Amino acid sequence: MVDVVLGAFYGDEGKGKIIDCLASNSDYVVRFSGGNNAGHTIEADGHKFAFHLIPSGILYKKAKAILGNGVVIDPKVLIEEIENLKSSGYPVNNLYISDKAHLILPYHIELDEMYESIRKNKIGTTKRGIGPAYCDKYERCGIRMEDFVGPNFKELLRENIKNKNIILKAYGYSECDFESIYNEYKGYAKVLKKYVCDTTSMLHKAIKDNKKILCEGAQATLLDIDFGSYPYVTSSNPTIGGVSTGSGIGAKYIGNVYGVIKAYSSRVGEGPYVTELNNEIGDKIRELGHEYGTTTKRPRRCGWLDIVALNYSIMLNGLTGIAINHLDTIGKLDKIKLCVAYEYKGKVEKYFNTNQKFLENSKPIYEEFEGNFGDISNCKTYEELPEKAKKYIERIEELTDTKVKFIGTGAGRENIIVR
Ligand code: GDP
Ligand code: IMO
Ligand code: MG
Repeated sequence: MVDVVLGAFYGDEGKGKIIDCLASNSDYVVRFSGGNNAGHTIEADGHKFAFHLIPSGILYKKAKAILGNGVVIDPKVLIEEIENLKSSGYPVNNLYISDKAHLILPYHIELDEMYESIRKNKIGTTKRGIGPAYCDKYERCGIRMEDFVGPNFKELLRENIKNKNIILKAYGYSECDFESIYNEYKGYAKVLKKYVCDTTSMLHKAIKDNKKILCEGAQATLLDIDFGSYPYVTSSNPTIGGVSTGSGIGAKYIGNVYGVIKAYSSRVGEGPYVTELNNEIGDKIRELGHEYGTTTKRPRRCGWLDIVALNYSIMLNGLTGIAINHLDTIGKLDKIKLCVAYEYKGKVEKYFNTNQKFLENSKPIYEEFEGNFGDISNCKTYEELPEKAKKYIERIEELTDTKVKFIGTGAGRENIIVR
């Protein structure tokens, strides 16, 4: 069976930590969507690792790490990540990159900045070139890994740069220089060539051999290009469908689908956010939870946990279990609120809807819980948690009809309860 870990909200729920926990028993860990807009943190072995492209499971030397066809790859960033891991004592000899994954090139990054600057309603992208790279994929002019490491790279690059320069020039942006980009990037192609292969057939063989596969979601459900709060979303499908299209694994092989949440919520970038706390409690959560972007260092917007949005995520992804992080953080507050419904146009609404007007005009309806859990970082079993903490968890289970399978009690690898 293939297990999947997905972000259930707006990203940064602590997916890296849950992947790290499950990867110890996995033969393969697969990224299937997004690119280095992701930042997945793992605190282990005295190090703080921040993964942007390489699957977080790589810390377990037994697991083969795969970048699937649905991922967009900035080769410069990938090589930096490989080098950083090597210098921390991880040899990276178990990395495989799909021949069908698309490249992010310097003009994608420039275009990302350009489009963001001319947009009336800013999205707040990570400016990593993600949107423009996916645009090229769908426009069918993108450059895939197999092209990058093969003989066609030079001509494909020349053609793309010629076309992108027309747009960049029209908006007064500096044009890309083909010769210098080609000379730099052919060096990266040489370094990455040995990792490029047909990862789909590799995964099919692994399924036949009963190997354990873990799919690592990046971004999150409410940032999904189809099901998220469009247009304030990313340009891929971080939801369950993305697993199949971004790796080539058929739906019937998928087993557990874990949705990761925090005991509160956060969002980075623009867009509606019903339970946002634009006040001192939001500021307090940000400081207690160290809520600053792993990738862009931006302060994250913080708020209460939203059951209306969580139930949407459960239905969309067919979540079989919930992983909840930062129970320790929320337990430092005196009082905790949980959004159980919205008030929209004077009526109680329990169904989430990504319509912008609906989200902007919905008001959260809260239930209140006791905080002050004390130090829970050493609790190893659910039973050891204080009653107040259990009450909060059990109410979430009741409202979602879904079991909480993992509970994060601190940032470290060891601070986790598995039920
Ligand atoms: P991801 O993108 O979903 O992998 O999440 P990020 O790594 O961007 O952000 C999650 C942050 O919360 C990281 O700094 C983690 O080290 C931290 N973290 C994860 N789980 C817990 C937890 O249970 N408690 C605390 N205090 N920190 C956590
Ligand atoms: P992980 O995997 C949080 C957000 C950006 C912006 C929007 C579009 O660490 O959870 P993009 O650069 O993708 O075009 O930006 O999506 N975003 C994330 N927010 N966590 C992420 O990844 C994100 N990846 C993209 O802030 O609002
Ligand atoms: Mg992150």
